[in-house]
Amino acid sequence: MQNKSFYITTPIYYPSGKPHMGHAYSSIVADIFARFKNIEGFDVFYLTGTDEHGLKIQREAEKNKKDPKKFCDELSATFRDLTKTLNLSNSDFIRTTEDRHYKSVKEIWQRLQKSGDIYLSKYSGWYSISDEAYYDEDEIISKNNKKYSKSSGSEVDWVEEESYFFKLSKWQNKLLQHYDKNPSFILPESRKNEVVNFVKKGLKDLSVSRTSFTWGIPVPQNKKHVIYVWLDALTNYISALNFPDTSNELFKKFWPASIHIIGKDILRFHAIYWPAFLMAANIPLPKKIYGHGWILSDEKKMSKSLGNILDPIEIINKYGIDQLRYYLIKEVSLGNDGNISLKNLEDCINNDLANNFGNLCQRVFTFVKKNCSNKIPNSKNFDKVDLALTENLIKTLPALIENMNNQKLNNYLNEVISFSFDANKYFNDLKPWELKNKDPERMNAVLNTIITQIKNISILLNPIIPIASENVLDFLNVPVEKRKITFIKDKNVFDYQKELNEFNILFKKIENDN
Ligand code: MSP
Repeated sequence: MQNKSFYITTPIYYPSGKPHMGHAYSSIVADIFARFKNIEGFDVFYLTGTDEHGLKIQREAEKNKKDPKKFCDELSATFRDLTKTLNLSNSDFIRTTEDRHYKSVKEIWQRLQKSGDIYLSKYSGWYSISDEAYYDEDEIISKNNKKYSKSSGSEVDWVEEESYFFKLSKWQNKLLQHYDKNPSFILPESRKNEVVNFVKKGLKDLSVSRTSFTWGIPVPQNKKHVIYVWLDALTNYISALNFPDTSNELFKKFWPASIHIIGKDILRFHAIYWPAFLMAANIPLPKKIYGHGWILSDEKKMSKSLGNILDPIEIINKYGIDQLRYYLIKEVSLGNDGNISLKNLEDCINNDLANNFGNLCQRVFTFVKKNCSNKIPNSKNFDKVDLALTENLIKTLPALIENMNNQKLNNYLNEVISFSFDANKYFNDLKPWELKNKDPERMNAVLNTIITQIKNISILLNPIIPIASENVLDFLNVPVEKRKITFIKDKNVFDYQKELNEFNILFKKIENDN
């Protein structure tokens, strides 16, 4: 039987500067869901990439005295490198300057034109280059003779030019019906309400081409215009599945997307424009759009201009990628904004990873190496207390799966790490070192229980801290195909004849001078 499929995407990033923590966060969150669906037994397609057209990039390239394509080649490569640094399991990396994407955008444009959803007129209004977004008069504030977007704070310019328009207004009711019929189309709930209220106020037609610059995909049949960068960018999600060839295996298997992971600042584009474009082009809509909150540093959104950027690469070099992944999920409640700091990161590494899960593995494995000929002890006689430990985790599995499928990442993590606290307590209480001579049978049962529990916790932590999890499962010789949720209940994942592998400390404790 074919596995069920799961398609998850990150936003494609503007390669206008170095990747920062906000980019890392979107990608890590998506990676955790991708890896979880994989251990749940799904075939997963995980897409990320770079969004390379538009005035913002053209200006940035000019500032750097570079041809825009060359500029993008260089910066896109740093985003591609980041996928390695973050240990992402992405299936593909798309760039909007690739031929496959051009083909797909041209097709979508032609479909919109054919369906009568596009007309030529003139745009006059406010535009933010930084957001690549149009704003209405009531979305603007004035400060020192300049105008800014109320929502993003970025400066806006007055634009007047010939433009093609997309009949967004025509889709207003269809969109509202879709939100209504599909309650989990936009999540979290609070964001959905924002979108619904915005759409209910009335949608204006959307300018979808520009004539005042050239860095973009030309409008078919009118080369004076380039296609609006958001119409271009959103289409990436289907370009990567070989659209317009909708009968190819990838498209058939993975479209509609299971979930688009995005930041809350780009919700309007994903929850209003994208579904409207798709409906007009007669393409099924994605199942879910999840808008996460912002990562704050000093209680403010990280930004170049505020100078409060925490560089993910520096942090990873100093502390490790599993550590950063774990901390971000633990500290920031997905969907809300969350403040991060190095102090809290260090405390989290020490408390949850070094002293808790890392220490558990270290103590148990060292003991087994020394006292059990370096093999996993087997047993058939378990006491109530042993069974309670492992069964408690098994009993919780449906709730854990549900948490992940509803993007309740924090609940999942807190629950799983609490099993590790319990396992440490079990080891302390049952003192296998005292049983060694007194009752070796009983010692074997205790060790078998705790190793089974460590194995299960490691499988569950795999989406979040894949390196540590794989180290533990490698050490225990658990076959790769058995590192899945369904094998948590299976008693036969261990080879009791085989010696255990080398084991290195999982998480170094951070020593603080203060
Ligand atoms: N290119 C568009 C997305 C096109 S998707 C078809 C874009 N790029 S971006 O590089 O500016 O931002 C990408 C993502 O990073 C957004 O989801 C944004 O919310 C996220 N973040 C940027 N700064 C952030 C924080 N400080 N915290 C969390 N995420 C934020 O928008």
